[in-house]
Amino acid sequence: MGASLLEPNAVYSAAPLTFLANSFWVSGVLKSALEQHLFDLLSSKPLSLGDLSEKLKMPRRSARAFLNACASAGLIEWTGDFYQNTPLSETYLVKGKPYYFGGYLLFEIKRLFQHADSLTEELKNGSSRNLKGTESVFDHYSKNMELSLEFFQMFHVLSSLTAPLLLQAVDLSDRQSVLDVGGGSGSLSIELAKSFPHLKFTLFDLPGICEVAKKFIREAGAEARIVLSPGDFFKDELPSGFDLILLSAIVNLWSPEQNEIILKKCWQALTSGGKIMVIGTMLNDNECEPLDLSFVSLSTAVDTQGAVYTWNEHETFLTEAGFQNLVRFPIAAPIRNGVIVGEKP
Ligand SMILES: C[S@@+](CC[C@H](N)C(=O)[O-])C[C@H]1O[C@@H](n2cnc3c(N)ncnc32)[C@H](O)[C@@H]1O
Repeated sequence: MGASLLEPNAVYSAAPLTFLANSFWVSGVLKSALEQHLFDLLSSKPLSLGDLSEKLKMPRRSARAFLNACASAGLIEWTGDFYQNTPLSETYLVKGKPYYFGGYLLFEIKRLFQHADSLTEELKNGSSRNLKGTESVFDHYSKNMELSLEFFQMFHVLSSLTAPLLLQAVDLSDRQSVLDVGGGSGSLSIELAKSFPHLKFTLFDLPGICEVAKKFIREAGAEARIVLSPGDFFKDELPSGFDLILLSAIVNLWSPEQNEIILKKCWQALTSGGKIMVIGTMLNDNECEPLDLSFVSLSTAVDTQGAVYTWNEHETFLTEAGFQNLVRFPIAAPIRNGVIVGEKP
């Protein structure tokens, strides 16, 4: 007799496999909803299947499948008569709302779809963008104002959502001066400056990116609070004399050796008693959780020179650079799930 799935203890559900295979549809449905401005339509008022089928110019049969898939994914709700936004989509996916970051999600999904067919090749070849030395996609952005503005306009809100969560990790009331290393558009500095009027900020980033930050800082009315310091952390020294460093969404762009260079420079930029907050994507020490962040590691494997490192690996980088009294703080921000605070004795 051959193996039987009906033997005791031998009955396993194969459903997880089809779920995984079909997961493409989840991002496909979100992509399509964003492209068709579904959440903007539903923000003004709930709509029936008939209304939506007309507005989306979709046959009723496809509209029903599409809308029900959106509802199963938690993007919209079906009341029995109407479809309406969930609080999640109403807060983050309606254009013009303060926390909208649908543009970034659409950009990410389109980028992922480009990898879908070539992933095996790309993984075999290492970094797909042929990045050399200390290059990242941001060197390219830094030389192209239009492109970097486009990217940071999408990324800025997403990144600023991390700011309130940082306050659980460090008491900023006893800090005086903050260096935001690779601070991008200034999303974190701008948000923290609003809540802590006594703090002085310096944002260090590539020259072209500092130009982008200038625009965001001006729009936030924070010019008097945030000084820009253009430079390259692989070629230049960081400005020094700070008692707090923010290093947000940087470590996973780089190899361990490159991180060693960056963290040594951070150490030198701090006064004694100064603290560093490493904010980013941290895999559990078992290396394969959480699920969504394990997928971010694929993206870093094919798009950067770095990796999504575990909490332990982050701590090793920090300890080797001389930081002590390391403390972990899990946070629940988009694509950032952790903060590690370290101290320069
Ligand atoms: C993923 S973004 C993070 C931006 C910001 N810290 C945040 O959390 O939103 C990475 C940042 O590192 C900056 N960066 C990359 N290479 C750099 C270098 N060699 N010197 C200084 N900054 C660099 C990029 O320009 C970009 O702003």
